[in-house]
Amino acid sequence: MKKIRLGILGFGTVGGGTVGIINNTIKEIERRLGRHTTIVIEQIALRNLTKKRAVDTSGIKITTNPLDVVNNPDVDIVVELMGGTSLAKECFEIAIANKKHIVTANKALIAEQGNELFAEAAKNNVVIAYEAAIAGGIPVVKAIREGLSANKINWVAGIINGTGNYILSEMKQPNADFGKVLKVAQDLGYAEADPTFDVEGIDAAHKLTILASIAFGIKLQFSKIYTEGISKITAEDITFAQQLGYQIKHLGLASRTKDGFSLRVHPTLVPNSALIANVDGVMNAVMVNGDSVGTTMYYGAGAGAGPTASAVVADIIDIIRGLEQPPQDRVSGLGFALNSLKVEPVIDITEIECHHYLRCFAKDKKGVLATITKMMSDSNISIDNLHQEPCSTNKNDATLVILTNKVKESSINKLLEKLASFKDIDGEIQRIRIDSLE
Ligand code: HSE
Repeated sequence: MKKIRLGILGFGTVGGGTVGIINNTIKEIERRLGRHTTIVIEQIALRNLTKKRAVDTSGIKITTNPLDVVNNPDVDIVVELMGGTSLAKECFEIAIANKKHIVTANKALIAEQGNELFAEAAKNNVVIAYEAAIAGGIPVVKAIREGLSANKINWVAGIINGTGNYILSEMKQPNADFGKVLKVAQDLGYAEADPTFDVEGIDAAHKLTILASIAFGIKLQFSKIYTEGISKITAEDITFAQQLGYQIKHLGLASRTKDGFSLRVHPTLVPNSALIANVDGVMNAVMVNGDSVGTTMYYGAGAGAGPTASAVVADIIDIIRGLEQPPQDRVSGLGFALNSLKVEPVIDITEIECHHYLRCFAKDKKGVLATITKMMSDSNISIDNLHQEPCSTNKNDATLVILTNKVKESSINKLLEKLASFKDIDGEIQRIRIDSLE
């Protein structure tokens, strides 16, 4: 039987999950490969030699130096699961030069350096597969790149960070503010000790960069993504949104507009009627709208050993299935001919038009509401819904929640500046964009 030999870089949660699947499921995988071929794990690079592992590694060469793996002539496919963009990039470059295919879960590296890496891989006739980088176990890369390849994709919208979704979902419980829930998420191992990447939207922006590229056939443009996190969302906002028929979700949104592409990650009020509004906890979901297929949605676990390793092993199987194909017949890394990918215009967030949720605390006295609504009308902003109730923390204030009609972001920004200097408004004004995802 022919052996395809893996070299695994990184032996954390996903590395362990990958070895576990290969150990436990190899007979089924061989049947799927159906070509008298099997997979063996040749070498693993890990950091801690003495750490006890849940999976059997007997017979596997172990090293602490990832460069040993990418230079090992007995390794056919490098499986990069260590993360980071510096050493990982060096490993990619050496692996590619050594004509090894790569499977990775490293969204940061693909989003930030993928344009060069895919070009280098193509020159060397090797594949970089990255299904595990986006939404863990959901095969959304394959769905967009292969399953929907007949479509011109109009938009993609997704909950693509499980930690953020867990936090927003838990904040629906009584007395659960952002800080408390974040601490629970850290204790449960969902959020990193430094949760910035998850809660400030950087992780989602990496994933959205890749989704936009495979959806629209554009170069990876991470630096153009407008990114806003969830750390300023309050439990009160979540309650108000619910009272008005919405859920607050941290979405990655990529759409094709007549003026360019819109690429953004921010908290969003989504109507309860949208399927994605009901995706709670650590789960991920990605909606894709194509011109022929209409709107589709993909749901599943976005992280964790089993789900992420499921995507890693599927990529390994795919690479093996394509080994005897001429390189030009393989699906290209980003799903479009590499030489057709361009840096396309991305429209500035200030040009986006949508409905907005505004919430502020204002003095509960005559004329305040009239002044605020006058400022809105002077800014040509129409009110769709207005709700007022006593402020829970200051008896002299009222809490005002206003939903606007569709308006350009630049107009809302000007209004927010005016409101901020109005002496009868206390504290910061909350602004959350609304999207009906239709
Ligand atoms: N930190 C990510 C999340 C998982 O919370 O979704 C890996 O992409």
